[in-house]
Amino acid sequence: MTTFSNRVEQISISGIREVFEAAGDDAINLGLGQPDFPAPEHAREAAVDAIEAGKADAYTENKGTVELREAISRRYSEDLDLEISPHDVITTAGGSEALHLAMEAHVDEGQEVIFPDPGFVAYDALTKLAGGKPVPVPLREDLTIDPAAIEEAITEDTAAFVVNSPGNPTGAVSPREDVEAFARIADEHDVLCISDEVYQHFVFDGAHYSPMQFADSDNVVVVNGCSKAYSMTGWRLGWVTGSTRRIERMLRVHQYIQACTSAPAQFAAEAALSGPQDVVQEMSDTFEERRDLVVDGLEEMGLDVPTPKGAFYVMPKVPEGWVDECLSRGVIVVPGEAFGEHGEGYARLSYATSTEELEEALAIMREATEAVR
Ligand SMILES: Cc1ncc(COP(=O)(O)O)c(C=O)c1O
Repeated sequence: MTTFSNRVEQISISGIREVFEAAGDDAINLGLGQPDFPAPEHAREAAVDAIEAGKADAYTENKGTVELREAISRRYSEDLDLEISPHDVITTAGGSEALHLAMEAHVDEGQEVIFPDPGFVAYDALTKLAGGKPVPVPLREDLTIDPAAIEEAITEDTAAFVVNSPGNPTGAVSPREDVEAFARIADEHDVLCISDEVYQHFVFDGAHYSPMQFADSDNVVVVNGCSKAYSMTGWRLGWVTGSTRRIERMLRVHQYIQACTSAPAQFAAEAALSGPQDVVQEMSDTFEERRDLVVDGLEEMGLDVPTPKGAFYVMPKVPEGWVDECLSRGVIVVPGEAFGEHGEGYARLSYATSTEELEEALAIMREATEAVR
């Protein structure tokens, strides 16, 4: 008799999909986790050129082409003043695979993984798939994760803790002192810090810091990718970086589940990372304007809104029944509990959609708010 593994039976399809399916076709979708911009033209062209020249037909090196990994390394040097050897990078099928590699390579059966609650849905699922035990940690009022809360949650069985700044679903950005503390905790407790930095380039107030900039040990691995920064979610191109010994272990997993990332996507990503970066800044400036529009609109309705400092999400506290009122009026928002138990009482709104749609959605959300008052 065939059965399913206990690991897979512990996870389910993301609740976010269910929300989409419940809404009508003409609904305004504030549920999306991808920028509403085209991928850079030069990235698309690089892939087309590579395909036409017959350069994208074969497997590449397991880690990805040297040129792509050099381009990633240059970005770290220019953006964060971090020296990352191209040798210590594996390119992956999005940040998603990078997170999977980090978990598979570092988490043993029964070991604990600490992560933010509310947090990105994959942290819980990937922990379970690796045989680990999820340890969700509630956030501060401003929706950042408190390093002290991470430290308190650490036990003898902790394999890793995940941090995610700027954050999904919160839009919260950890200040420098917290990021320094993440690095110190990883060093002092000898646990792995998995830093998910896929929203690195969308910080409106303050700056982005990575625990890798501050750690003395090699206990930090960083996950990132082209999906958000260059609006290339469909290309499935991310990466993980860490010390040589950690990369070697993660490569063992990658080699067998993926072999290498899609070659055309690698050419596109190399062009995106090496070409002009003003597209990224333009997207970030647009998100910042929309953030202000949405936060002002929600506050005018009388909702309590922790001001997001990055990414393209906002997570207001909402009255009971609010999400359903929005959905029935044709605005898709995601209930906070889709991101963990402590998300209850919140909703996640993505403002990766046009200003016109956002204004229309705000008017509808105002009606929804009045209906539940
Ligand atoms: C926090 C976070 N990490 C990782 C990912 C994975 O993105 P991708 O696999 O497209 O790079 C996402 C996507 O929504 C995300 O929000």
